[in-house]
Amino acid sequence: MEREQVVDLRSDTVTRPTPAMRRAMADAVVGDDQYGEDETVHRLEARAATLLGKEAAVYVPSGTMGNLSALLAHCGRGDEAILGDESHIFWFESGGPATLGGIPFNLLRTDRWGRLDLDAVASAIRPERAGYPRTGVVCIENTHNRCSGVALPLHYLRELRGLAIERGVPIHMDGARIFNAAAALGVAVSDIADEADSIQFCLSKGLGAPVGSLVVGSTDFIANARRQRKLLGGAMRQAGVIAAAGLVALDTMIDRLHDDHRRARHLAEALAATAGVAVDLETVQSNIVLFRPPAGQDPIEVVDRLLARGLRVSNYGARGLRVVTHYEIDDGAVERAIAILQEVLVGQRERVVA
Ligand SMILES: Cc1ncc(COP(=O)(O)O)c(C=O)c1O
Repeated sequence: MEREQVVDLRSDTVTRPTPAMRRAMADAVVGDDQYGEDETVHRLEARAATLLGKEAAVYVPSGTMGNLSALLAHCGRGDEAILGDESHIFWFESGGPATLGGIPFNLLRTDRWGRLDLDAVASAIRPERAGYPRTGVVCIENTHNRCSGVALPLHYLRELRGLAIERGVPIHMDGARIFNAAAALGVAVSDIADEADSIQFCLSKGLGAPVGSLVVGSTDFIANARRQRKLLGGAMRQAGVIAAAGLVALDTMIDRLHDDHRRARHLAEALAATAGVAVDLETVQSNIVLFRPPAGQDPIEVVDRLLARGLRVSNYGARGLRVVTHYEIDDGAVERAIAILQEVLVGQRERVVA
């Protein structure tokens, strides 16, 4: 089946650059970024820092490298990172902090709302003692990928921040989809960023850019994260070619995230109305929907049967199947996806009209 005939809901990372991004890439003013001479990268970093209300930012090739650079900057060898057992950093980033930084994970249970229990965080932060590792950082994720794109509310972030300040431990936010969180909560992205010392956010997800993430924080912290980026081999040369698309993403793709959220909600409600399908509707707050096929249906087979009819979804193992809306998915594509899902999940005759 041709790509154009398939409704691809595996991830918001499958988006291709918009025509405006491609034009900006062709016209980008560039220089050698390792000499600090790429004007377009400078503009992108300055714009990111301003938007999130931080002093500085560093452009990195991926969210994974952004999180890793930040953790390496927060922690010395042997310092522990407190993070959730459903976090992207734990599940999907190859154990980079432990492998490359000697940073062990102190995993806490992630609740249904993507949160770490505050008392559990307080107990997990280590007191000073020779036999204990030092606590280097507390990591949170916003929106939370494996919790159906739930957004962490500001009151929770403020409480966590208060606790972390009291105990002298920095907070790193994996904000791969922080702009989705801001849209879901109806707040400025800087209000969310205020509650963390460092944030990694992605241009290549809901914002549709082809490549890149930014790490933001204080000037000193970002100087350190930049050193870590170099150590990881992620310093670039004429990176303005891709940074230019990132600037277009920040200019043109933030305000439309509400449309992705509305479409994800519609998909989630249609799935919830489909016999035997389980969806936690309350946690569907942004562009991600996790659902479980009816009992007895093998998720791997469901994925294959959906694909054979022209719908791509992701298998999230114990978390179910995942669909994600993005800018290449319009209302028509959502209706096609719903029709295919209903056909596969319950069969044509029992189809539910959502
Ligand atoms: C929550 C979260 N954090 C980090 C990442 C890593 O981003 P990248 O794929 O650019 O390395 C992802 C990617 O899907 C993500 O969903």
